[in-house]
Amino acid sequence: MIDLRSDTVTKPPLAMREAIAAAEVGDDVFEEDPTVQRLEQAAAERLGKEAGLLTASGTMGNLVALLTHASPGDEVILEADSHIFNYEAGGAARVAGLMPRLVSGRRGTFDSKQLAAVLRPDNIHFPPTTLVCMENTHNASGGSVLDQPTVQETAAYARERGLALHLDGARIFNAAAAADVEPAELCEPFDSVMFCLSKGLAAPVGSVLVGSRGFIQKARQRRKLLGGGMRQAGVIAAAGIYALEVMAKRLTEDHRRARCLADALTGLGLTVMNEVATNIINIRLSGDLSAYALLSAWRSAGVAALPRDEKNIRLVLHYEISDDDVTAAVAALAQILG
Ligand SMILES: Cc1ncc(COP(=O)(O)O)c(C=O)c1O
Repeated sequence: MIDLRSDTVTKPPLAMREAIAAAEVGDDVFEEDPTVQRLEQAAAERLGKEAGLLTASGTMGNLVALLTHASPGDEVILEADSHIFNYEAGGAARVAGLMPRLVSGRRGTFDSKQLAAVLRPDNIHFPPTTLVCMENTHNASGGSVLDQPTVQETAAYARERGLALHLDGARIFNAAAAADVEPAELCEPFDSVMFCLSKGLAAPVGSVLVGSRGFIQKARQRRKLLGGGMRQAGVIAAAGIYALEVMAKRLTEDHRRARCLADALTGLGLTVMNEVATNIINIRLSGDLSAYALLSAWRSAGVAALPRDEKNIRLVLHYEISDDDVTAAVAALAQILG
């Protein structure tokens, strides 16, 4: 199967499995797991923050961040197509007790004027706004890399207003690779950043939340509250260290293949909706073509991808997809469309 459904389908490579087997471990709730500590420190350094906290998933990392920055009844500014708002089971409202207020970005990026328009004045009728979240890369718009000067300008304005800033950087290493900068540069405007080990970096499980030492100390308590305190988690962290040291260095290959695939699909008459800056391609079908029917036929030919809806398909590149796989996937689709 040529699996283009998501970069989350990636299985740990052999060397990563060996690192898992060799991991030195301890009880991480007692903060005695040396491998977890190594991962948390390495992640914090790569992202330019003081400290890190391993979480079971990206959803948990984002939720821990929300619970740490804000209090129940606060308003949080989220981008309208963000993962936190749309795909995290409503945890911001249900678990953190926050009131989401939405701002519609352009490929995920919103400016200070847009932010100003949704901020409420200080008045007893309104909930206090305490937090602004952004997402880089922005999944729904096809793995777009946020426009960094605009991010900086919006963040400076948020800071003037006394707001905290959290980045859902599930794919921040893809963003950094595409922008050809260190991830720390993209994370600089934010108080906290969550990134995932288990997507394009191919670890079997885990995300890391980074921020100041004080923030992470508080976040550790929020993680415990969610049942996220893990014991000999060094087996997870060892995979994470390999992900950071090895897998994060090869993401531009996925981006190159994504552009090749997008060009070939355009050549078949399909409409690619995004600029394909990283590893995600959004396709919109025209005429009578149904995403469900097309994907069913493609799957019978050995290629899996996910529909966004009846007319939209998402394809995601990752380290298990080779140049030959791209060629084979295009050939199979050409036959179906032909
Ligand atoms: C942008 C973004 N944030 C957060 C998450 C959540 O990560 P997880 O699936 O590990 O909970 C995802 C997952 O796809 C994502 O794409």
